[in-house]
Amino acid sequence: SDLAAAYDVTLTDTPTPHDERAAALAAPRFGTVFSDHMARARWTADGGWAERRVEKYGPLQLDPATAVLHYAQEIFEGLKAYQHADGSVWTFRPEANAERFTASARRLALPELPVEDFLASIEALVRVDREWIPTGEEASLYLRPFMYASEKFIGVRSTLEAEYLVIASPVGPYFAKGVNPVSIWVSQNYHRVGAGGTGAAKCGGNYAASLLPQQEAYANGCDQVAFLDAATNTTLEELGGMNIFVVAADGSVSTPSLTGSILEGVTRRSILQLVADRGIEVSERAISLAEVQSGLRDGSIAEIFACGTAAVLTPIGRLAGADFDLTVGDGTSGALTMSIREELTDIQNGRRPDRHGWMHRL
Ligand code: COI
Repeated sequence: SDLAAAYDVTLTDTPTPHDERAAALAAPRFGTVFSDHMARARWTADGGWAERRVEKYGPLQLDPATAVLHYAQEIFEGLKAYQHADGSVWTFRPEANAERFTASARRLALPELPVEDFLASIEALVRVDREWIPTGEEASLYLRPFMYASEKFIGVRSTLEAEYLVIASPVGPYFAKGVNPVSIWVSQNYHRVGAGGTGAAKCGGNYAASLLPQQEAYANGCDQVAFLDAATNTTLEELGGMNIFVVAADGSVSTPSLTGSILEGVTRRSILQLVADRGIEVSERAISLAEVQSGLRDGSIAEIFACGTAAVLTPIGRLAGADFDLTVGDGTSGALTMSIREELTDIQNGRRPDRHGWMHRL
């Protein structure tokens, strides 16, 4: 786009040597390897958005009084770039991430970054770092746009200055065990957010709130935590960083409805479409923990899976909590889960027609 040209590029003076990059791309553990550059822009209340640029990836220098370090006025996004067999480079539904970013900005009283600007920053960075897109199965370049309150001020009010950045990380599967069933710990003592809170926004604070219960999940031998609604402590909402779906033995599919405290995942939305395209009955509704427990006990629930940009679709093989421990089906990957997963990753990797116009060529 024309705006991508608005991002001034200064190439790094220390590019990662080819062999080192190849090694980093071969089997990256999620979120540990980063490309050579980052995109950024700066906002001030007086001047608006300015200083759009792509520059060498590197540390930020923050004054100790920088507002974000005190009051967590921060938002982020997650999306992926894929290289197709013909060498072309694509992102998946980036406008959806751009729109959610502006919604998150509103909730966190941060400045809204125009959708075109978000898309342009991604395009500018991926163009410069396209050699960092891994090409293996399950591999992609994970893009992490984020924005934070950069004003040097520790009074509590919305910031008058903000920094927006995009970093890029070559990734494989999110979970260390690959695309294999994970176990979920249902947190019955902690909640992510309450009514009127920031649950629908993608802000760092929501994830900070999930970390102690996530530790509890690990301590109980589980991979991920699931949260119940704060008002009644009975209804399934989402996982620490993913949405959740339930597949009934009769084939119908459901996911928790967007109550205002659930993040509207782009993957969640895409799965709802792909399932409906198959003529399968699909609903967004309140799903109680009690319903899931009895469904797993009597076999009326066949599959449960987690989904997100990072997790794609990940089968759930076990659901446990303080007073229960249940296997999902026979504990192996569900058939519908894996079939929808394959359809989605085929679209993302250019192996199937993109009937919904989800892919965006860079
Ligand atoms: C994503 O799926 O992109 C997220 O933001 C969640 C996190 C688990 C990486």
